[in-house]
Amino acid sequence: MPELSRRNVFLGAFGLAGLAAVSACGGTTSGSTTAAAVHSAEATRRSAGQRVVTAELTPRPTTVDLGGPVVNTWAYGDSLPGPLLRARAGDLLRVQVDNQLPATSSVHWHGIALRNDMDGVPGVTQTPIKAGTSFTYDFTVPDPGTYFYHPHSGVQLDRGLYGALLVDEVADPGGYDVEWTVVLDDWVDGTGRTPEQILKGLTSATSGGTAGSGNDMGAMGGMDMGSGMGEGMTSPLLGGAGDIAYPHYLANGRVPAAPVTLTAKPGQRARLRLINAGSDTAFRVALGGHQLTVTHSDGFPVASVTTDALLIGMGERYDVLVTVGDGVFPLVALAEGKQGNALALVRSAAGTPPKASARPAELARKVTLSTDLRAADVVLLQTKGVDRTHDLVLSGSMAPYRWTLNGKTFPDTDPLQVEEGQRVRLRFQNMSMMFHPMHVHGHTFGLVKGGARKDTVIVRPMQTVEVDLDANNPGQWATHCHNVYHAETGMMTTLSYPS
Ligand code: C2O
Ligand code: CU
Repeated sequence: MPELSRRNVFLGAFGLAGLAAVSACGGTTSGSTTAAAVHSAEATRRSAGQRVVTAELTPRPTTVDLGGPVVNTWAYGDSLPGPLLRARAGDLLRVQVDNQLPATSSVHWHGIALRNDMDGVPGVTQTPIKAGTSFTYDFTVPDPGTYFYHPHSGVQLDRGLYGALLVDEVADPGGYDVEWTVVLDDWVDGTGRTPEQILKGLTSATSGGTAGSGNDMGAMGGMDMGSGMGEGMTSPLLGGAGDIAYPHYLANGRVPAAPVTLTAKPGQRARLRLINAGSDTAFRVALGGHQLTVTHSDGFPVASVTTDALLIGMGERYDVLVTVGDGVFPLVALAEGKQGNALALVRSAAGTPPKASARPAELARKVTLSTDLRAADVVLLQTKGVDRTHDLVLSGSMAPYRWTLNGKTFPDTDPLQVEEGQRVRLRFQNMSMMFHPMHVHGHTFGLVKGGARKDTVIVRPMQTVEVDLDANNPGQWATHCHNVYHAETGMMTTLSYPS
């Protein structure tokens, strides 16, 4: 991925002037109490001499070569993924977004505990960025880790609009020789149907279990709607694994027939950052001939665990360490419960690359999910009594296609009321037969079991997952399923501080 030329401006006099300059809020729905609280929360993150990292993003229609298939799509510039954004914990990130799309858009900074008015959720934290206009996001990035950015507008994420956002530690302890970032995606745009048309196809099915009849989805070869509630795409690990059979699965914008190559020398340690930017697909990831040592989940350190494979839901990220063998190896991301895979190659020597359809044995060995992990001690939430518990019952139907929280669809869902200083428990109860990766903006929660710090967690069918968070970032925070089609048809609410 191309790295944006980055200008790190050392602002010696940032201190007081900077604090005073915490800029006007772009919020539309926040009351003035919230606005004041958001400003003072941001002021505590700023510091004298804070570095400023600037970047530009240009969402626009473009043509992208996926390594064979050439598709018309929307992307940030012409690259897929979009430009890699990189800062250091504590930096101020200032990103100008020039919207050259024929539609309104927004940019959300997934996983970052930032100031609420820069969170990029139209209708909740800002007015949408109109076609032909620009908006500058300006916020401190408090925590190191692997993050990504994407629009929070309709199903635009399912086009080519996404990119990695890496936040380095101020003093990186190292422990690796090379670093690779791999962004996974499920791809349909430009192959005969747009994500908006898919959404329309899903929501126009109004009755019966055979939602595929009555529209031409079957003919596209891109949809499996015939079996209701995702029964057609199931996985022992996840139950209902998705609603859409995509024609392509990508690693760093490439189909498996033309994979990117990640290089190292034999015996080197590589830090691999994995990001699932898919819309309806979890990936089971393994590197042929290697074990993965999981070090971070959603940017935060875990007690390291060695595994053969990892299951990554939409919106989740994992950092793993691998000791690179001698040769060429397939890094395979199986579309869990679906047909197909994404692929990248790891190369440390000459040799014939593995097939695009390679299925390393590791995929079928020990598969780790976030619920198997424990937080590293340094990021364990402090032991504290729970002040407030919110239940979220996850449910839905295929016909009509709608996904609900406590039986309601956004914006009619009940906000999750919290107050600053509270320890809040969210209890996700999945009463549907499909998995949901549940994501909370602006906060990192701790899993009650195991403590792993995360912002997105897979909740399997008929499973309950409890997470705790400290309400320490005032505002209105989108809380939703990271299946973009589920979120768009209602599976969303807000974590809501008083306004
Ligand atoms: Cu990534 Cu609200 O999402
Ligand atoms: Cu969902």
